[in-house]
Amino acid sequence: MKPTVLIVDDEKLVRWSLRQRLEEDGCRVVEAETGAAALEAYRKGVDAVLLDFNLPDTDGLKVLASMRSEDPLSPIIMLTAHSSVERAVAAMKLGAAHFAPKPFELDEVAALVSRALEPIRLRQEVARLRGDGDAPPLIGESTAMRRVLELCERVATSPASTVLITGESGTGKDVVAKTIHAHSDRSAAPFMNITCSALPEALLESELFGHEKGAFTDAKAKKVGLLEQASGGTVFLDEIAEMTPALQSKLLRFLEEKAFRRVGGSSDVRPDVRVIAATHKDLPKAIEEGTFRADLYYRLAVLSIAIPPLREREGDIELLAKYFIDRFNREFHKGLRGISSAGLQALELYSWPGNVRELKNAIERAVLLSDGPRLEAGDFEFATPPRGVDRLRLPPNGIKLDDLEREFIVQALERAHGNQTRAAKLLGLTRDQIRYRISKFELTVPEG
Ligand SMILES: Nc1ncnc2c1ncn2[C@@H]1O[C@H](COP(=O)(O)OP(=O)(O)OP(=O)(O)O)[C@@H](O)[C@H]1O
Ligand SMILES: [Mg+2]
Repeated sequence: MKPTVLIVDDEKLVRWSLRQRLEEDGCRVVEAETGAAALEAYRKGVDAVLLDFNLPDTDGLKVLASMRSEDPLSPIIMLTAHSSVERAVAAMKLGAAHFAPKPFELDEVAALVSRALEPIRLRQEVARLRGDGDAPPLIGESTAMRRVLELCERVATSPASTVLITGESGTGKDVVAKTIHAHSDRSAAPFMNITCSALPEALLESELFGHEKGAFTDAKAKKVGLLEQASGGTVFLDEIAEMTPALQSKLLRFLEEKAFRRVGGSSDVRPDVRVIAATHKDLPKAIEEGTFRADLYYRLAVLSIAIPPLREREGDIELLAKYFIDRFNREFHKGLRGISSAGLQALELYSWPGNVRELKNAIERAVLLSDGPRLEAGDFEFATPPRGVDRLRLPPNGIKLDDLEREFIVQALERAHGNQTRAAKLLGLTRDQIRYRISKFELTVPEG
């Protein structure tokens, strides 16, 4: 998130030149020509102010005083053409952070701003390292993941208030939710996360919706729920399939009417939040089984993002593997030089039931234990054998090589979910070679 700097000066040229420079330095800039406009912009929230003494409608000192009374901490730098000592002293007393005498050097002002923003940058850096600021990277170049990324961007910038993310365990549902939040204009507001299966119904209800004092025996004080705490931001409801039917209907009412009541409350609250729900379960099946409300599902499914399993993402295993190798290599100071082609092939052949999480863990372990120079197939330990490997032993007598070839093609196509390019790659064939064999053996495959 870029820090916002407010420039208050009635001279257009001054504002323009400062804006150019500060934007180059990675700031977002808002301008005001008058004291009144300055205060209005200030109230919307800025991280630093450049303030001229002489304004058309009022005295810069008065503006300074008002700003200070609203927020005693935000850094304010005074721009001053003919600084008299008294005015400078008065400004200091009112809490101006610095002075930039006019005509100023852009470099000098930029340095003052940068120093003033230092604490904010530090805070953001800490937030980033804690992982609650920007989202972690969402890596993937397969057609499927490009589509997911594109959807994230579109959803992030849309006014849509509800999103559903589905995908097997470890496919990146958390990352996608954080990406949507980080790329939206809600990113400065909180991203709050709750796992529906982690709490019993009554607790989950008061965590989400809050409660009034005395709503139940233990409610000694009023509690503001996550949906209100995250106002302006995003609430991520993980494992939504685990929510009880009663809470599902309360949630549905909120999604439809944008209003709910705290437990024990008698009036509606209307926080502005985006709800992102996620599950690795098959919701249509849960509906059939009677554990999930169809109406809630249809409300959630209006905008849904399905993350495909890793084994179906052409090319992503290699990309992610290299990314994680690089990351753990640096983290553990290992000096590895990547992965051998046999090592990579072992990763490609595996089916990754635990998806990206499993790949990440496998690489972390391999990087830790490897003594280099590259990761090899033997550095990986897989939870289940690659599909079909047991069928690759020497055939019983009497089997023709042709049958074996056919069997390999069938298995490769199976593993590649009918994608011929990928199946060909698994067997070291070209696309034409596999096509020839598919027609030779009269195999039927979906077009891939
Ligand atoms: N596309 C990706 N690029 C980089 N890292 C990823 C990607 N997808 C997932 N990861 C990483 O893999 C791990 C698992 O991802 P995540 O927690 O988002 O999965 P999930 O779908 O929420 O799983 P679960 O259903 O178990 O909650 C995390 O460490 C995450 O950072
Ligand atoms: Mg998750």
